[in-house]
Amino acid sequence: MRVLVIGSGAREHALAWKLAQSEQVTDLFIAPGNPGTAQLGTNVDVPVEDIGRLVHVATTSQIDLTVVGPEAPLDAGIVDRFQEHGLAIAGPTAAAARIESSKTWAKEIMNAAGVPTARAERYSDFESAAEAALDMPLPIVIKANGLAAGKGVVIAQTHQEAVDTLRAMMVERSLGDAADEVLLEEFLVGLEVSIIGITDGKTILPFLPSCDYKRVFDGDYGPNTGGMGSYCPVPSVDPELMVEITRTILQPTVDELRNRGIEYRGILYAGLILTPDGPRVMEFNCRSGDPETQVILPLLESDLLELLAGAANGDLSSVDAPQWIDGVAMTVVLASGGYPGSYRKGLTIHGLDELPEGVIAFHAGTGQDSDGTVVTAGGRVLSLTATAPSFEEARQFVYDAVSTVQFADVQYRTDIAAREVMS
Ligand code: AMP
Ligand code: GLY
Repeated sequence: MRVLVIGSGAREHALAWKLAQSEQVTDLFIAPGNPGTAQLGTNVDVPVEDIGRLVHVATTSQIDLTVVGPEAPLDAGIVDRFQEHGLAIAGPTAAAARIESSKTWAKEIMNAAGVPTARAERYSDFESAAEAALDMPLPIVIKANGLAAGKGVVIAQTHQEAVDTLRAMMVERSLGDAADEVLLEEFLVGLEVSIIGITDGKTILPFLPSCDYKRVFDGDYGPNTGGMGSYCPVPSVDPELMVEITRTILQPTVDELRNRGIEYRGILYAGLILTPDGPRVMEFNCRSGDPETQVILPLLESDLLELLAGAANGDLSSVDAPQWIDGVAMTVVLASGGYPGSYRKGLTIHGLDELPEGVIAFHAGTGQDSDGTVVTAGGRVLSLTATAPSFEEARQFVYDAVSTVQFADVQYRTDIAAREVMS
């Protein structure tokens, strides 16, 4: 089969890496890809937003299956457009992708489906939102309804901060239309875990649980980022709890969408908090996680192509549940100094050819200068991933490899998966 992966980050490099191992994949294309994916297949220089040209690429290159990494093209209807052209594609339609792009709608789906989630109320005018916030216990979680590039969630520590945030969002319109509506949500306490499943719109097959690290500095300090590291599986989510999460969260969500005439085909991501009263959903995403994908796929024994093709065709009934390799995986993101603020680009990356066995560098913000040297080209540069029998060994492998791969100003967290070693 000829397969096209859409996206250019480390998540898409991991997808391409795993798909390249499938005996059924004869040709692999990545649009636009990065210097890492170029070693696995053919990069096609078309941006993810240019759906018209991507349809053209899929048609002229006789692509049998397209796999979409990021949310933006899903939200813009890439799946609908491909399907109109009779092209097989794994991912939700624009209507289904709203589960990520509209937090109020996602909450409505969860409540209708009886899925355990943080209690929340929606508001469309500042005065009533501010009045309600003043009555809430602290801290207060404020969520803009729409996609806001990671700026849509504020955890207000004081009532004054809550009111100021609401005024900025709803009166001063700091996030534009994204905050036309807001949710005021109860603050949940517990371990944050990511649960990803693949669905044909009827049934959903869960992947292993994983944890990601969103804050830039060790100990969860500093601003939010696109993810500084992750690990898989999560020992506190045992197989029994996974069964419960599938039964009470993933499956009812797929069923509720289906009851509303929306057949969700692709990867569904639930961000949960494990509270003392059980798991609660914080958010849904309409795609796989980054950097979660970089730790889940190295442990997947099954053929990813079969799973994605089953989802795309709307029939996973003849596909076996995913099988997993024993052991653990973790990834440490090597970022440019200054990220998520401003940072330098074009710095030479050394040591990529000297990685020890068992360590993979998934590329994200990398580029190539005119003589082919790999250089930094973004905030999150590489996802250094190791698989090992234990978290202790995985940490050893990754952090040893960190000193092999070098570029000026590099920054990374040193505490990824540390909690699973000390416990
Ligand atoms: P989201 O964009 O919904 O993932 O929210 C961003 C981050 O805010 C999450 O990763 C959590 O750390 C935090 N967060 C969101 N909702 C809640 C909540 N109800 N309680 C506690 N923390 C939350
Ligand atoms: N790691 C969080 C996300 O992909 O949204």
